[in-house]
Amino acid sequence: MKSIRKAVFPVAGLGTRFLPATKAIPKEMLTVVDRPLIQYAVEEALEAGIEQMIFVTGRGKDALEDHFDIAFELEATMTSRGKSLDALDSTRMPAGSVVSVRQQQPLGLGHAVWCAREIVGDEPFAVLLPDDLMVGRPGCLAQMVEAYGKVGGNIVCAQEVPRERTASYGIITPGAQDGRLTEVKGLVEKPKPEEAPSTLGVVGRYILQPEIMEILSSIGKGAGGEIQLTDGMAALIGRQPFHGVTVDAERHDCGDKTGFVIANLALALGRDDVAPAVRAYLSKLGL
Ligand code: G1P
Repeated sequence: MKSIRKAVFPVAGLGTRFLPATKAIPKEMLTVVDRPLIQYAVEEALEAGIEQMIFVTGRGKDALEDHFDIAFELEATMTSRGKSLDALDSTRMPAGSVVSVRQQQPLGLGHAVWCAREIVGDEPFAVLLPDDLMVGRPGCLAQMVEAYGKVGGNIVCAQEVPRERTASYGIITPGAQDGRLTEVKGLVEKPKPEEAPSTLGVVGRYILQPEIMEILSSIGKGAGGEIQLTDGMAALIGRQPFHGVTVDAERHDCGDKTGFVIANLALALGRDDVAPAVRAYLSKLGL
């Protein structure tokens, strides 16, 4: 079984839900406590053994590449002043380990993943949607890679969602269950609550076989008039093993303002350096 060495980060989205914040900066650069969303996803990938990060970007997204570059002037100045570079850990990526490709038109998540086909090549790969901030130990993708070691094939991260929210997710038709693993018998993108086959949703982490690329090049537009990754994955079911894994991790939906604010609060409360002051403020409010 080939190991998972590459991860695709679809980061071309315009972030219109966060305007005006995202008028001039990519939404993936929005900060949770002290690091941008993209950094949480990249750190999770590194922890899972990923060696190459593939950003599928668009115009106005240069800050994402800069963030993982060596900032020569900054580092030289800090070093000459005797300051530690620790705060830059995991943003100074080895040369060649961050690659980017452009999604020239906003045609959907499936199209974004397909844009990375030449860089992915003929090997299994991960996909991480940075909007989904996953907090777990070990990290979400590391847990999925472990599951992959047992069953291979294709794996999506699965979580129960409220029935009234099925139209925001890819939804699984579940088959046999074995501990945290559920066989995926069907997948449908954003079904209405009354039409959803279950309430087991797909959240933004995937391990996929390279054959998905060929499928993505030929499927038509699906839900919302976009080329959907979910539709491409559905076409693999029955041809290759396909499982959902229910990871031990908390998901924060940072594609949504409320989820983003909650993520800031949750992560701040988990940090020794800021938690005491945040707690003191909450108790002043009587919370
Ligand atoms: C995407 C996928 C969807 C998945 C979701 C997880 O939707 O298309 O299948 O459930 O991410 O966050 P989006 O949130 O980009 O509309």
